[in-house]
Amino acid sequence: MKEKLEQIRLAAQELLDKATEPAAIEELRVKFLGKKGELTAILKQMGQLAADERPAMGQLANTVREAIESSIEKRRKELTDAALNKRLESERLDVTLPGEPTVRGELHPLDKALEQVKQIFLGMGFDVVDGPEVEFDHYCFEMLCMPKGHPARDTQDTFYIDDNILLRTQTSSVQVRTMLSRKPPIRIISPGRVYRVDPVDATHSPVFHQVEGLVVDKGIRMSDLKGTLEQLTKKLYGEDMKVRFRPHHFPYTEPSAEMDVTCFRCHGKGCRLCKGEGYIELLGCGMVHPQVLENCGIDSTVYSGFAFGVGLERLTMPRYDIDDLRLFFENDVRFLKQF
Ligand code: DAH
Repeated sequence: MKEKLEQIRLAAQELLDKATEPAAIEELRVKFLGKKGELTAILKQMGQLAADERPAMGQLANTVREAIESSIEKRRKELTDAALNKRLESERLDVTLPGEPTVRGELHPLDKALEQVKQIFLGMGFDVVDGPEVEFDHYCFEMLCMPKGHPARDTQDTFYIDDNILLRTQTSSVQVRTMLSRKPPIRIISPGRVYRVDPVDATHSPVFHQVEGLVVDKGIRMSDLKGTLEQLTKKLYGEDMKVRFRPHHFPYTEPSAEMDVTCFRCHGKGCRLCKGEGYIELLGCGMVHPQVLENCGIDSTVYSGFAFGVGLERLTMPRYDIDDLRLFFENDVRFLKQF
């Protein structure tokens, strides 16, 4: 019996050493120490021993059981520790590592410029109104004194949906829509996309943006136009900027003018950007033609108004020294990040 006990102890130890899972340890515990286990079986045979042998053998059996129990506990702990360490290792998180930078998006430079323009006009009491990009020929041209066949249409060829519906070439169509739907006093700007059949190059794009302005009220004069646009320029580009008005022709304004501003690069001295002028052309404007007012049902003997239209790209490019219009539309982050 003594040898048998010793064998059980050795066998238990050997199997425990081989076990690799905590679950296997439990199986071994049942195998050796359980009710039907090997050690229990031996203990049941104690009755057959001579009475004087029993105490010593009983003690030995207890020692063996305790040895197996402690081996089991030891091995169980080893295995659970190892499993825990493995998990910790695989889920290791170094909170002292520098964080991964998240790339934050920004508004497009044209959106930023537009936002600034809007704020300036909102500050002067203007509303911002929207108009459709797919427009009737009637609103885009006819009502603005540019009937079919008018030479002023030549520079504004566009994409036609049919004979009377087109992609608007100018936001001036919103002037007409506004005068038809509102009564004076009117003070609006209308920013938006416009379309023309222009091949893409550094200064042309078939899609670009304009901001239209319209004021109609009693007693509106050219000086109101000048003052308003001078404010726009100074707020946008700085108090030292000068503006200059040159006579021009638009069928829907009388008189008409183009407005230039002090050259951004040379500040008036004359350089390559301004072709030696000291000024660069910024926008078209004028006093709303009485016929346009009448077309829209506004009595031109009572009311007068001024209007202007400015290219948003044109407004933004010289300021940031951007010399290629295509950059706005290519969406190259290396370009966009600079503003
Ligand atoms: N519509 C003109 C263009 O696209 C710009 C313009 C000129 C708008 C004079 C106006 C204006 O409202 O009065 O070139």
